[in-house]
Amino acid sequence: MSRDNVRLTRAIEAYIRDVSLREPEILARLRDETSRDEWAIMQISPVQGQFMALLVEMLGARRCLEIGTFTGYSTLVMALSLPDDGQIITCDISETWTAVARRYWAEAGVAHKIDLRVAPAVETLDALLRAGQAGTFDFAFIDADKESNDAYYERALKLVRRHGVIGIDNVLWEGDAANPRTRYKSTRAIQAFNRKLRADERVSLSLLPIGDGLTLACKR
Ligand SMILES: C[S@@+](CC[C@H](N)C(=O)[O-])C[C@H]1O[C@@H](n2cnc3c(N)ncnc32)[C@H](O)[C@@H]1O
Repeated sequence: MSRDNVRLTRAIEAYIRDVSLREPEILARLRDETSRDEWAIMQISPVQGQFMALLVEMLGARRCLEIGTFTGYSTLVMALSLPDDGQIITCDISETWTAVARRYWAEAGVAHKIDLRVAPAVETLDALLRAGQAGTFDFAFIDADKESNDAYYERALKLVRRHGVIGIDNVLWEGDAANPRTRYKSTRAIQAFNRKLRADERVSLSLLPIGDGLTLACKR
């Protein structure tokens, strides 16, 4: 019926939240606490969170992997969608931000599903590969330092099972990804990564204009 995406005005964004958002109270509180952090913009939106929860449910996921925990919103979204014996391994380098995350995971009663690894994510992913965990994850979410997207993606592609899905966040980088004359190194890394994915026959692909742009890559 339509060739283009609808242009999301503030009124339409508010309407989407009004008619579809079912954000659990604990996630709303975590978002509220994080909003006082100067880096709050790094957190995914509640609408994107709800989409990811649906994806985890649709995949029947039991094992998730996350690169970029921050204060734990996206981790909590996924953990709440996993079965009680499900597991999410989440990677970050910040003790400070993940201390906030740990409080909320405990309060939500899902801490037993979450294995936080505080170390550079490439080290954690390589350790998982060395431990023989290739092909054991259903869903991987990449949302850390954007210049390392490709390093994370190549490892995640080994770690997810066939027909498992990798989500890569911020692929539009507030629209700057569409700017061929960008001055920013991070944008250029995102642009190169987006181009690479389009040509990558190892995955099926869709770039969703949700949040700051979310690419889903399904391992063939
Ligand atoms: C965009 S935030 C993640 C947001 C989170 N997914 C959410 O929705 O709340 C990016 C996170 O990546 C972490 N990070 C940056 N470089 C990293 C690295 N080399 N290894 C692991 N984590 C890293 C940062 O500390 C930060 O918490």
